Amino acid sequence: MQLADVKLDLSSAPADDSRREPVQVIAVTGGKGGTGKTSISVNLAHGLARSGRRTMLLDADLGMANVDVLLGLSPQRTLFDVVNGECRLEQIIMTTADGLMVVPAASGVRQLAQLGTRECAGLVRAFSDLDRPLDTLIVDTATGISECVASFCRAATEIIVVVCNEPASIRDSIAQIEMLSADYGIHRFRILANMVAGAREGKVVFRKIVATLADDHRQVLSYAGYIPRDQHLLEAIAGRISVVSAFPRSRAAMALANLARQVISWPQPVQAGGHVEFFVERLIQNENSGKEVTS
Ligand SMILES: Nc1ncnc2c1ncn2[C@@H]1O[C@H](COP(=O)(O)OP(=O)(O)OP(=O)(O)O)[C@@H](O)[C@H]1O
Ligand SMILES: [Mg+2]
Repeated sequence: MQLADVKLDLSSAPADDSRREPVQVIAVTGGKGGTGKTSISVNLAHGLARSGRRTMLLDADLGMANVDVLLGLSPQRTLFDVVNGECRLEQIIMTTADGLMVVPAASGVRQLAQLGTRECAGLVRAFSDLDRPLDTLIVDTATGISECVASFCRAATEIIVVVCNEPASIRDSIAQIEMLSADYGIHRFRILANMVAGAREGKVVFRKIVATLADDHRQVLSYAGYIPRDQHLLEAIAGRISVVSAFPRSRAAMALANLARQVISWPQPVQAGGHVEFFVERLIQNENSGKEVTS
């Protein structure tokens, strides 16, 4: 399939939004591969769903998806079929026993990984058609700074940047933040330290980011906490189950539960008629606020 063949309907009219509540959309991203974006997205989404929040997890690592693998799901159809016009978004959503709604993507499909801004915006807009009540949508993005990652980040109400305490991860995350800020007008980021020893190292990661980031007064960084390096997470993944379910008392599970509590406490979007069409491309507001550091 050529990119020119993409058949996604970009003209779909937004559904009636008069009875809808705004939805919190959290993009989980990061400049470097393998920092734990998918593990955190899956476990955070799972924790939110278990706490009774109506939660959807979108696998936006479009060409190299693996959310379904981590959750032990075997999707018959994926976003690839939606983009091809073979089925509607509604038809590919899978729901886990805990009530987590999952939108699976395809794996090993280069064309999906290379969607341009227009196609990605169309994909983002396709969410407007969904007629499901939602509180939170977690978006597990691909690594780096592709147009598609930028489209998903622009559409989100919160962006979590997952960073490890290693030079390449810190450098690539800074590059991603600076690029999203300069080229896409996205200025608010929440830094989550992953695979660290504990609270102290988590703060070290955050401080390194703040210290290294070019002094741009528009950027607002806040610290979203840390997830410790924990073997239980690997064991849970091997068992295709979330660490929150498999080892609820493990350090990783407790940190993820803490993150879920934080997420619930973050200010909810106030945009009227948000439902899922909040999930259209838009610039993050408060562009003029100064570079602010909270922890
Ligand atoms: N806190 C943690 N403790 C131990 N292992 C972890 C932790 N977080 C992630 N991992 C492991 O690191 C590896 C990479 O994680 P994951 O696939 O979630 O990263 P990713 O950022 O989504 O990668 P990609 O860039 O390929 O999408 C996996 O084997 C995962 O189990
Ligand atoms: Mg991933």
